[in-house]
Amino acid sequence: PNGHVVVVGSFNVDHVWALPVLPRPGETLAGTYHTGPGGKGFNQATAAARAGARTAFVCALGDDVGGQWARALASADGIDLRALRSDAPTGTAGIYVDADGRNSIVIGPGANAQLSPAFIDEHRAAIGAANVVLTQLETPVESAAAAFALARAAGALTLLNPAPADAVVSAQLWALSDAITPNETEFCAQLRRQTGTELDPDTLAALDDAQLHAHCRALLPHGSVIVTLGKSGCFVSHADGALRGDAQACYRVAAAAVRAVDTTGAGDAFNGALAASLARAGERPFGEHIAYANRYAGLSTERAGAAAAMPNDADLRARFPS
Ligand code: RIB
Ligand code: NA
Repeated sequence: PNGHVVVVGSFNVDHVWALPVLPRPGETLAGTYHTGPGGKGFNQATAAARAGARTAFVCALGDDVGGQWARALASADGIDLRALRSDAPTGTAGIYVDADGRNSIVIGPGANAQLSPAFIDEHRAAIGAANVVLTQLETPVESAAAAFALARAAGALTLLNPAPADAVVSAQLWALSDAITPNETEFCAQLRRQTGTELDPDTLAALDDAQLHAHCRALLPHGSVIVTLGKSGCFVSHADGALRGDAQACYRVAAAAVRAVDTTGAGDAFNGALAASLARAGERPFGEHIAYANRYAGLSTERAGAAAAMPNDADLRARFPS
């Protein structure tokens, strides 16, 4: 492994039902059930590790079967697990996936809600040794901010995946984020909270580059914004004078052509792979890391499950020979 990533975030036991259509209120449907490891934090840590970065994962787990499972899985992937032992149950998610690979997710935060700034501080040495520190919003924002403050002090890049969309980001966490990676829904939700501007997520990909760039600059004036647009790839917007090795302040990167069977965790695949690629070779143009993360996320959708679907670097090179 090469490059050092620290992921701070959630672990969930995912309970997944595959159904022809998503259920409506009052309806009872039968689906094909499976369970697998998930949680945006753990999915991203698994992706970073399998993409080849030395990876530590700071999280909170219950004293139960789910917690034991997380420890065993982290060890199998060579992830340096730093888990707070909580008396709450390990996090859970209920996921419905329809015939088109779309999903609806409900989470039970459990132990994830107990991840504390004090525990983050106990791992300041690991965080300080990272090239990239990556977090999301399924664990408390104060803990994310504590991790980013330590990362900043040590010169690590801070990457915030502002997911899920309903989570409120503090001004402190926003200010400490070097780059953010919202999808369409998350972008519009945060834009409304931070600036008051209302945009329809379904029309975002159709905006021209200048319009989208202006919204990104309003959202995170000091940092880079990477909007993930599903099948439309992603849009990258940098702050003036901080192009991160790119030739242009904004541009689009096409998605990889794939045959998606399950898009659960595709955003997590993108974030983990982006963190790993930046940690390994941060001096290369930013757009190259984005292209790598797009391929990585694309391949993850050709496999069922969340963390279990994360490819390794060799699978990726075999699927997309350059
Ligand atoms: O991003 C996908 C993840 O969201 C799932 O694994 C589920 O646990 C929820 O956290
Ligand atoms: Na998948």
